[in-house]
Amino acid sequence: SARARAQAETIQRLLRERDAVLVAHYYTDDAIQQLAEESGGCVADSLEMARFGARHPATTLVVAGVRFMGETAKILSPEKRVVMPTLEATCSLDEGCPPAAFAAFCDAHPDRTVVVYANTSAAVKARADWVVTSSIAVEVIEHLHARGEKILWAPDKHLGRYIRERTGADMLLWDGACIVHEEFKAQGVLDLKKVYPQAALLVHPESPSAVIELADVVGSTSQLIQAARELEQPQLIVATDRGIFYKMQQAVPEKTLIEAPTAGEGATCRSCAHCPWMAMNDLDRLEHALREGGGDIEVEAGLRERALAPLERMLAFGR
Ligand code: 13P
Ligand code: SF4
Repeated sequence: SARARAQAETIQRLLRERDAVLVAHYYTDDAIQQLAEESGGCVADSLEMARFGARHPATTLVVAGVRFMGETAKILSPEKRVVMPTLEATCSLDEGCPPAAFAAFCDAHPDRTVVVYANTSAAVKARADWVVTSSIAVEVIEHLHARGEKILWAPDKHLGRYIRERTGADMLLWDGACIVHEEFKAQGVLDLKKVYPQAALLVHPESPSAVIELADVVGSTSQLIQAARELEQPQLIVATDRGIFYKMQQAVPEKTLIEAPTAGEGATCRSCAHCPWMAMNDLDRLEHALREGGGDIEVEAGLRERALAPLERMLAFGR
């Protein structure tokens, strides 16, 4: 609408005035993603967001996503101001892995290398040997497994099982899940494949194993977009947050993208393939945070230093 366009222009001006760059995740609203593109920021998966923010010369990073993404940016760039449209955007994986209980779990298994998913608090990362995102998780665990290391993995059990299956590593799993991806069901996907027998199935590894088993491609958000380009099928069924369709459709304008069905379409659906916390990032909150502040991420210095080591290990590994 005209109002949204005017607001987007205002936000672009505020970004320039504050020497700020917008770093957005694929699951945020189309309007946020478009603004990130048009203002010289980026739309990316969690690993690329971390890299982009750490390398960009702007003195302020505006992170549109969920809290762990803002924290990761601050841990990697403590000298920069890191602002989020809201500090309330959490993640069910982060929420389901409280630092004290996680530390006790680690203490009970001192012989294991602790590898945590990026979707965790700074305090959980601080207890880890490695942080990984979904785009690099299999490679890192393969590497540790080849060195004979046994793994303690947290928090996503579905991603953990998928990596264990792929690598054969000895992995002890924390019991966590993403409320969005957990809603995808194999039966619904099979029914949809009958309607579109030629379609390829693209699945984010936070989905249940029964859905992963049906997939033609399993990967992080950016890997799924890359796969959409490379696959020859003209129809693609996609099992991840529907926010990804904005950039995926841009990448393959000639292809038909189909949302994978969730378990409880209608009344019982908690997420309907759209993350409620990602959805909190809207233009109003973004403008407000730039004008008034208040969405600043702070990470205490001691904690930051401990969380930095496993994050840097990931970045160095992926280079
Ligand atoms: P990606 O690293 O694939 O972007 O995943 C982040 C996330 O939160 C998925 O739910
Ligand atoms: Fe967390 Fe799932 Fe939302 Fe990603 S989609 S931020 S894993 S709750």
